[in-house]
Amino acid sequence: MSDKPSKTYTLTNNETGETYELPVLSGTTGPDVIDIRKLYAQADVFTYDPGFTSTASCDSEITYIDGDKGVLLHGGYPIEQLAENSDFMEVCYLLLNGELPTKDQKDEFVDIITHHTMIHDQMQFLFRGFRRDAHPMAIMVGVVGALSAFYHDQTDISDPERRMIAARQMIAKMPTIAAWAYKYSKGQPFVYPKNDLSFSANFLQMMFAVPCEEYVVNPVLEKAMDLIFILHADHEQNASTSTVRISGSSGANPFACISAGIACLWGPAHGGANEAVLKMLDEIGDVSRVDEFIARAKDKDDPFRLMGFGHRVYKNFDPRAKLLAKAAHEVLADLGVNNPQLELAMALEKIALEDEYFVARKLYPNVDFYSGIILKAMGFPTSMFTVLFAVARTVGWISQWKEMIEDPVHKISRPRQLYLGSTPRDFVEIDKR
Ligand code: CMC
Repeated sequence: MSDKPSKTYTLTNNETGETYELPVLSGTTGPDVIDIRKLYAQADVFTYDPGFTSTASCDSEITYIDGDKGVLLHGGYPIEQLAENSDFMEVCYLLLNGELPTKDQKDEFVDIITHHTMIHDQMQFLFRGFRRDAHPMAIMVGVVGALSAFYHDQTDISDPERRMIAARQMIAKMPTIAAWAYKYSKGQPFVYPKNDLSFSANFLQMMFAVPCEEYVVNPVLEKAMDLIFILHADHEQNASTSTVRISGSSGANPFACISAGIACLWGPAHGGANEAVLKMLDEIGDVSRVDEFIARAKDKDDPFRLMGFGHRVYKNFDPRAKLLAKAAHEVLADLGVNNPQLELAMALEKIALEDEYFVARKLYPNVDFYSGIILKAMGFPTSMFTVLFAVARTVGWISQWKEMIEDPVHKISRPRQLYLGSTPRDFVEIDKR
């Protein structure tokens, strides 16, 4: 970011006639930003932007999205090229370090991640404390937060080496925690990681292996898993990432910050949408009922929304949804699964894409629209969909957290408000109210 603004905006107070020069900062690409950091001190006004629709909360070098063109770049590399040519471990390295690894760097990184996948064995008692029918996202919030107790000594966030160790630990341990959350809900024994497997294959075996028989990882599923992890790895300042950054801005423990991000991701407007899509497809049931549900989605008196449609940033198409739609067909064909839900999803997509309501509002299928269909075909229960999103997004969260801590001008995040409550008034005794 250039420190010397070439452009300014002038803000005029129409009552007093006073003017304020607001510098404009330019990134390497994307819209300029008006720097309002000194506005309150100079003009005694705040800006008002609930939901941050026009606010850049930070500067970042990690991920770039052009919502109008459907572009997603990590470190400058288009998501399509990463999905085609790379793997999740490389993408993790890229997000954490800003560059793709050389062969040696990749081998070293994979080795480190592989050798940190076990979690402290005492943590299994935490799992056992949850109700058997607990939602795995509830378990994730609790257990990931508890990492801050188990690995407390290792999280001196002022030490760059320690920050990187915490980041790698988080990436490595998340699949184990996620798989154990599932195993616990199934009443099956926890399966330990295996170091001769890839990140994605290892996750599948921890999810689906049982001690009484040999589990052989299906390479089609391994590839699909890796693609799903790549496509969910980071998405700039989305709600959960902003939550992680805000939590971390106070100097909080990184594991606790990631737990806060998981809590935010859980909501149906964010990562919980993939679970909601499948529930919606179940509810629709048949192509003949698509029109009825489209009408409900358009009815302002009905709270129903088409889950998996719309995005705060993408107003053209979500490139991740395109890649996943293609992968869904390939995976289902490979597995020989004839999935009526995929047919239904395609019919719904076609009708919605041609409907004036959706066209006018630029509502396109998002990443969650197709991910649930693939995950279901791969054998994942619906309740695990958002957990998988969390496993993948961990690298994004921790990379963004690291970037924030390493930013020399970072401050505690503390927004202000437009107060609409009572003005000062005198306390009234309880018997006189
Ligand atoms: N179905 C029907 N109408 C919709 C939908 C939808 N899925 N999404 C937005 N709209 C309408 C909305 O009613 C509003 O209409 P009007 O202008 O007439 O009032 C207009 O489109 C703009 O919607 P908004 O709620 O102001 O947009 P937003 O940017 O605040 O919300 C969103 C974005 C993703 C929360 C929203 O599109 C949504 O709720 N989608 C369904 C849930 C979903 O799929 N979430 C996953 C998002 S992508 C992955 C992730 O982030 O985890």
